[in-house]
Amino acid sequence: MPDSSPQKSMSPRESNSDLRAAVPDSVPEPRTAASDGAPDPRTAASDGAPDPRAAASDSAPCPRNAAPADAPGSRDAAVQTHDLAFSYDGDTFVLQDVTIRIPRGEFVAILGGNGSGKSTLAKHMNALLMPDHGNVTVLGHDTADEESTYVIRSQAGMVFQNPDDQLVASLVENDVAFGPENLGVPANELRQRVDESLSEVGLEGFQTRETAALSGGQKQRVAVAGVLAMRPDILILDEATSMLDPQGRKKLMELCHQLHREGKTIVMITHFMEEAAQAQRVIILNGGRVACDGAPEEVLTQSDLLEHLNLDVPFACTLSLELQKRGVPVHVHIHPDSLKEELCRLHSNA
Ligand SMILES: Nc1ncnc2c1ncn2[C@@H]1O[C@H](COP(=O)(O)OP(=O)(O)O)[C@@H](O)[C@H]1O
Ligand SMILES: [Mg+2]
Repeated sequence: MPDSSPQKSMSPRESNSDLRAAVPDSVPEPRTAASDGAPDPRTAASDGAPDPRAAASDSAPCPRNAAPADAPGSRDAAVQTHDLAFSYDGDTFVLQDVTIRIPRGEFVAILGGNGSGKSTLAKHMNALLMPDHGNVTVLGHDTADEESTYVIRSQAGMVFQNPDDQLVASLVENDVAFGPENLGVPANELRQRVDESLSEVGLEGFQTRETAALSGGQKQRVAVAGVLAMRPDILILDEATSMLDPQGRKKLMELCHQLHREGKTIVMITHFMEEAAQAQRVIILNGGRVACDGAPEEVLTQSDLLEHLNLDVPFACTLSLELQKRGVPVHVHIHPDSLKEELCRLHSNA
């Protein structure tokens, strides 16, 4: 279990000047541990013949979710940003006019090219950065209110790209205990939280394993367990699957779905389209602004727009469009399995 000193010396996180700079002195740093008539041809609806115009996806408008403002203090939204603008150097704005509302319990994917502002936005959701303009509320708490920093950090847990940047202790159980310990969770409850969190990520029995000897996927799951041990409502994963092998990515996605079913809000920043396709909603950032915000079936089928934004097009979508061009009457899919099912149906009806 955790050693008696609550602060480990020189954790990797402590050497992260970016994060450290944003942490007010008075607040303990918790663990911040990713058509008409016929059915809409751009969706994977399975009945009816697809409309060949579906291939002309550049003509479809980019969906934009309305983001109605909640009453001040409302806890209905997990995260709400209003006219958020932010500049690191006081000169160039890397986020501008960002107004989004993520309801509690939603699974949202955030996409965008390199430098589009995804990580900067994520850090605003965790009160690691403060807006220069506009505001950000997390579960109704304004991130600019220093008195709320503690509750925001404990309720919005971050998992970063590289687990080595996040793991702080040499033993798994000490690592998982680090966040709740910093939150002041009493020692008798720590053991229970550590054990529960490890079991939730599928690492029962790993308590006394050396973190350094784990695989990348296991390390990332320890990082997630460390965040879960703080019992957050919101899990923010900033490209947390990008260093994992396909099996590790799949397992982490399954864990996110499980946590989502248990009621957690999931904000997953990713550049894997197949992961984004599994979310309930996709937000695309471009040059620090929201370029698109809608259901995956609406957003991820816009191949021209995605290419314009330097993003991949989901493989199932590309394949559906190619098949349509060759006269195969399929809908445009974003999930390979649903495309496969439709092709099998077509084949058996032929
Ligand atoms: N600590 C920093 N100091 C100065 N500029 C930064 C810092 N972090 C990111 N930036 C700049 O802000 C912009 C957005 O970066 P970031 O949010 O990391 O984008 P993304 O996560 O989408 O790749 C980029 O132009 C990046 O160079
Ligand atoms: Mg980033």
